[in-house]
Amino acid sequence: MNVARVAIAGFGSVGRATANLLLSRREAYRQVYRTDVRLVAVCGSRSGIVDANGLEAERFDLLEFGLSGPDFIEASGADILIEAGPSDFRTGGPGLAYIRSALSAGRDTIVISKGALVHSGRELRSLAQTSGVMLKLSGAAAAALPTVDLLEHSLKGCRVLEIEGILNATTNFLLDAMTTRGLGFDEALRQAQAGGFAEADPRNDTEGWDTASKLLIIANFGIGAELTMNDLAVEGIQTVTRERIEAWHAQGLVPKLVGHLTNSNGEIRASVGIKTYPLADPLANVRGKDKAIRIITDAMGETVAIGSGKEPLATAAAALKDLELILMSRCGRPIPLKKTSS
Ligand code: HSE
Repeated sequence: MNVARVAIAGFGSVGRATANLLLSRREAYRQVYRTDVRLVAVCGSRSGIVDANGLEAERFDLLEFGLSGPDFIEASGADILIEAGPSDFRTGGPGLAYIRSALSAGRDTIVISKGALVHSGRELRSLAQTSGVMLKLSGAAAAALPTVDLLEHSLKGCRVLEIEGILNATTNFLLDAMTTRGLGFDEALRQAQAGGFAEADPRNDTEGWDTASKLLIIANFGIGAELTMNDLAVEGIQTVTRERIEAWHAQGLVPKLVGHLTNSNGEIRASVGIKTYPLADPLANVRGKDKAIRIITDAMGETVAIGSGKEPLATAAAALKDLELILMSRCGRPIPLKKTSS
């Protein structure tokens, strides 16, 4: 039996959901990948490292752990880092130091927070290549919605001509609530905050920065673009009024905040802004806090995916999908999970 030792840096709601989901799937990992996956350490906003081996999933939430600095990965003895800390694309956030040290030390790394990838994606990709390890980021690229996976696997070999995505749950929820339920902006935002999916500073959502971060990660890691935030024109939804919504409605149009990218013979242009869709368009029917992506390629035409996972479980599941890809690359062919009778 192989052994994989996992450490989680960042222990908010997503880090905790990831830990609990991982613990609940240990037996499946043993069967499918012939690997004993051990959660060896977690760190959060208080001091200290705690050995989490053998914890019962239901007891896990009761424990509190601490931040131990960039040498956390060495101290933990882990060979896989899952980074789930707070995200800040202007500085890379606290996650950047953890990711850098893990990649430099030759550890496969799963990134959930977007900040470090937006700020230093090129450096991190090159660190991973130099160290010969995997850098996975499904949880940072719109999580429950398959985005980079589609580009890396399903659409491999095709030339991507255009990407259009409703990548931010909060703005989709706000516009949908204003359009279909007649709510005002402030009341809709209160509901998004109560639902726990709006950012701590909701201007990251409403001014388009979260959408821009996700589009940039999808472009840079999915199709090898080299965009920085300065390359994107970014507009949010803060100027949307009841009157504008009613005017669009009267014309049978549905407004969405979208990240949009075109690739014309390698010349990539990307932007974030409001676009209106006729009712027959699949993107017009992405409701509530769902997300969606449309990818147009030369050989496979149009692909649309819509994701409706519930957070934080969906992000945790996206990160553990990355974990499974790492386990698969280590152990070779997976063994199908035996069906148990219900
Ligand atoms: N605030 C984000 C959203 C969730 O509304 O989609 C984290 O990416």
